[in-house]
Amino acid sequence: MSRKKRTRYVCSNCGWESSQWLGACGSCSRWNTLEEFHIPENDGQKTHKSRLQTTGKTAMKPVTLDEIPVSEADRTVTGMSELDRVLGGGMMPGSFILLGGDPGIGKSTLALQWASLLSGQKTLYVSGEESLAQIRQRAHRLEVRPDHLHLYTETEIMQVIEAARHEKPGILIIDSIQTVYHSTMQSMPGTTAQIRECAALLMQLAKQENITVIAIGHVTKDGDLAGPRILEHMVDTVLQFEGDKQSHHRILRTLKNRFGPAQEVGIFEMDSGGLREVANPSELFLSEFNPAVSGNAVVCSMEGTRPLLIEIQALVTPTSYGMPQRTASGFDHRRLSLLLAVLEKRCGWQFGQHDVFLNVAGGLKLTETACDLGVAAALVSSLSGKAAGEPVVMIGEVGLGAEIRRVAQLDRRLEEAETMGFRHAIVPKGFKGGGQEIKVSAVSNINDALKTSGLDG
Ligand SMILES: Nc1ncnc2c1ncn2[C@@H]1O[C@H](COP(=O)(O)OP(=O)(O)OP(=O)(O)O)[C@@H](O)[C@H]1O
Ligand SMILES: [Mg+2]
Ligand SMILES: [Zn+2]
Repeated sequence: MSRKKRTRYVCSNCGWESSQWLGACGSCSRWNTLEEFHIPENDGQKTHKSRLQTTGKTAMKPVTLDEIPVSEADRTVTGMSELDRVLGGGMMPGSFILLGGDPGIGKSTLALQWASLLSGQKTLYVSGEESLAQIRQRAHRLEVRPDHLHLYTETEIMQVIEAARHEKPGILIIDSIQTVYHSTMQSMPGTTAQIRECAALLMQLAKQENITVIAIGHVTKDGDLAGPRILEHMVDTVLQFEGDKQSHHRILRTLKNRFGPAQEVGIFEMDSGGLREVANPSELFLSEFNPAVSGNAVVCSMEGTRPLLIEIQALVTPTSYGMPQRTASGFDHRRLSLLLAVLEKRCGWQFGQHDVFLNVAGGLKLTETACDLGVAAALVSSLSGKAAGEPVVMIGEVGLGAEIRRVAQLDRRLEEAETMGFRHAIVPKGFKGGGQEIKVSAVSNINDALKTSGLDG
């Protein structure tokens, strides 16, 4: 085995490794993402062996399912139902949860409140970003005084692991994964190599000691978990904390969950007292809705397992300089272009000389095609200046021929609309429900939908 130090280059986006530096990553083709890192004198295999040695455990032997105690599967619930929801009904002991979000969005606040809710569990909170005094001050502001919370400001990963093995907490919070480092590695904290190594050690700790690890990670401008992107494959659960910093709403979204449904969302409000869960999210997203104003529509989107009613706002105005603008917030830009093209080509509404702005109320990001019909209706309504007048929910996917296509879980969406006091819904043709109080109009294309809702010119 060679004794000389080896240098490798690792892509900070996808974790691809190379023995030489390249301008673009060989796997994800991004430019300038390769970071240099030195492998200590012992090579990879030996590192794994020494990891086992440092854990003080001998290698485990295979077991049958019957040999595993069942009690391990009991979930830890926080009692905050929006949080438990995104965790698939509670935390699994020994799981590794990655909590990502933009700087300043409230990750540390969430983690501290989360920890305070788990009063039955000893919690070790490792902070590499703030001093003990700052954390104390925040705890004071949030009015949480968790006696079971132990704070630690060490950031060397082996020290952290040592402390965790000694203290034996049920929950270990790392704030943040970008500030912890392994002292034998030469690269800086926050580099891909460091993040990957520290996460691997924490993962091992979680599984061996049955400690739930919650690691906070910062997100880059383009929305990737910086560096931690490569962690998404390793960890059990990835949560994303989002929201518009100007507004009080915060959305906690499950991007991946080995122990529950993905794409689940929890809705919170943030003020000086910290985060509060929002009991009725549809009410929140419809709070400013006025059916008498043109350019508005209400859609029903399945966010995880829950239907949410959301207001769509469109503003269509004549273009003043040359190229018309298309701006969408909370909705896919290309999907907007597609809907505009369908409205022009198939329905005769001309947007060519108009700027188009589209906004999803409450800072939510809509990904479901079931929202297409509502978006199309809002666009037409703003162009024509005609409002629907009566509140109506629009549900349906728009096809390239302007036909309205079926969507999943229509019953649950209608139920939510009814609960929220809507008396009219427009849905795709072929709907065979009944028994609802809400009037359901089944339509086959956009023009029918516009006629039924009173939006056609
Ligand atoms: N005294 C205060 N009153 C009201 N809100 C406050 C107060 N102090 C902080 N906040 C809110 O808390 C937010 C920051 O929360 P927090 O520190 O938990 O975020 P973070 O995501 O951990 O940030 P970072 O990326 O810096 O670690 C601020 O954006 C602000 O909205
Ligand atoms: Mg923080
Ligand atoms: Zn790459």
